[in-house]
Amino acid sequence: MKIVHTIKDLQAELSVLKAQGKKVGLVPTMGALHAGHASLVKRSVSENDVTVVSIFVNPTQFNDKNDLEKYPRTVEADCQLLEECKATFAFVPSVEEMYPEPDTRKFSYAPLDTVMEGAFRPGHFNGVCQIVSKLFDAVTPDRAYFGEKDFQQLAIIREMVRQMKYNLEIVGCPIVREADGLALSSRNKRLSAQERENALNISRTLFESRNFAASHTVSETQKMVEEAISNAPGLRLEYFEIVDGNTLQKIADWKDTSYAVGCITVFCGEVRLIDNIKYEL
Ligand code: PAF
Repeated sequence: MKIVHTIKDLQAELSVLKAQGKKVGLVPTMGALHAGHASLVKRSVSENDVTVVSIFVNPTQFNDKNDLEKYPRTVEADCQLLEECKATFAFVPSVEEMYPEPDTRKFSYAPLDTVMEGAFRPGHFNGVCQIVSKLFDAVTPDRAYFGEKDFQQLAIIREMVRQMKYNLEIVGCPIVREADGLALSSRNKRLSAQERENALNISRTLFESRNFAASHTVSETQKMVEEAISNAPGLRLEYFEIVDGNTLQKIADWKDTSYAVGCITVFCGEVRLIDNIKYEL
């Protein structure tokens, strides 16, 4: 695997391979890679001739400076994992490389980006779209891979691709969980042993809510999750919404959609964790 730091060098490498007709997969990441990222990389490696994995902690998507500073940075270990997953290139640019000048572009995909994360993290999805579009422009991949854990992000990126007419396929990949149910996240590295134990109540509650939903209404299921998280030690619920998985708008009745998804964000100590579950009713 080659480690490349500039767009120019990456494009020089890719142009030779593309001229040979090779298909390119892109896996955008912010590093601190775990088995969830590895699943995206392995999927890309299995579906494309060339896999580019970007590692870039994108400052424009952090509305909280403290979160940006504390975001784990583990580039050496990341590159080792990517080597094991047989990625072709690790693209590790500097902030100056990706933002030689401030990016003043505005991306707006209402109502997808005004609810949930969009409401609680103003500007977050604008920053995500800024960097993802820059990566799409730099790599011009055939396919790009994103995890379903960031459910709203995936929906917004699909919409951006549709509206901007990018000629690529977005591949959404399932959430990877620890054996005990905790959804893998780079932020889990910041949890103490006790906090990690507390955090288990998030996935546990979501799984329980799936059984509960089979014999209860949307609002009863909503209430059940809210109460379970409020009563769990060390957790603070930011939001839980049961939405249509395509429009991301709240549903009032299970009959409103065939694709109901519960999206949750919870603070565990100082660490903000997100998770989601599909209701198959
Ligand atoms: O999901 C992430 O890790 C980031 O939001 C992404 C897509 C790599 C953009 O910085």
